[in-house]
Amino acid sequence: MHEQEVARAAELLRSAERVVAFTGAGVSAESGVPTFRGAGGLWEGQAVEELASPRGFYADPVKVWRFYEERRRNLAGVRPNPAHHVLAGWQERFPQYAVVTQNVDGLHQAAGARGVLELHGSIWRVRCLGCGREREERTVPLSQVPPLCPECGAMVRPAVVWFGEFLPETVMAAAFAAIERCQVLVVVGTSAVVYPAAGFVEIAAAAGAKVIEVNPEASSMAHFADVALRGPAGQLLPLVDARLEVA
Ligand code: OAD
Repeated sequence: MHEQEVARAAELLRSAERVVAFTGAGVSAESGVPTFRGAGGLWEGQAVEELASPRGFYADPVKVWRFYEERRRNLAGVRPNPAHHVLAGWQERFPQYAVVTQNVDGLHQAAGARGVLELHGSIWRVRCLGCGREREERTVPLSQVPPLCPECGAMVRPAVVWFGEFLPETVMAAAFAAIERCQVLVVVGTSAVVYPAAGFVEIAAAAGAKVIEVNPEASSMAHFADVALRGPAGQLLPLVDARLEVA
């Protein structure tokens, strides 16, 4: 059923040298991670948008940390799926390649991807509110909630971007640069409704890149897609990858 689209996607990628994979929650759906807009939005009776915000954190850091602890616990046992593996493998294929993600789950890296541009930070990192130092924190469960900085003793926060916060500047700059000069943008599992997702697709298309969308549903950016692979990324990306081998 998807044969023509798979062949067309492989054809676009085969001759490309500069490729960007841009991913959202859907790339992790087949690993068992719920997508954002499918999640329901409440935790212990409070809106997730409130918990995952600076205001929510300063109002009740213990509650917000318990919320993140639950997410960390759920993610600790989760494994990357074939979509993550294909996207990681492409770093050996394309001379210039970047994975840009909105996800904080670390599954691209777990599949072996290097230099992943994490627009929304990572649930596996924390940042000190006192000295500003950021460090990896993979202990699950944490020995104390909220955790304290080993350097200065102040409280730390999850190094994720919260609602109402700016995206990390250097990561954004690197993502924009890669997207502006790519020849093919592969957009996987994002509804592309929030900034900068929508902007990325538009910029790439305006700069002449071909856009491949991998999503069971048409996203808000679907009209930019030169090829639309309508199905689960964990099934369709391996088909595209296998097709790349065929001359
Ligand atoms: P969404 O939950 O908005 O969208 C997930 C997309 O994945 C939808 O378009 C689904 O159709 C698609 N999808 C579901 N299963 C899939 C599968 N097996 N293969 C491929 N696609 C599949 O998640 P995002 O677009 O990532 O920001 O949301 C973007 C940002 O909005 C999030 O990072 C979050 C939220 O506000 C912050 O937390 C700052």
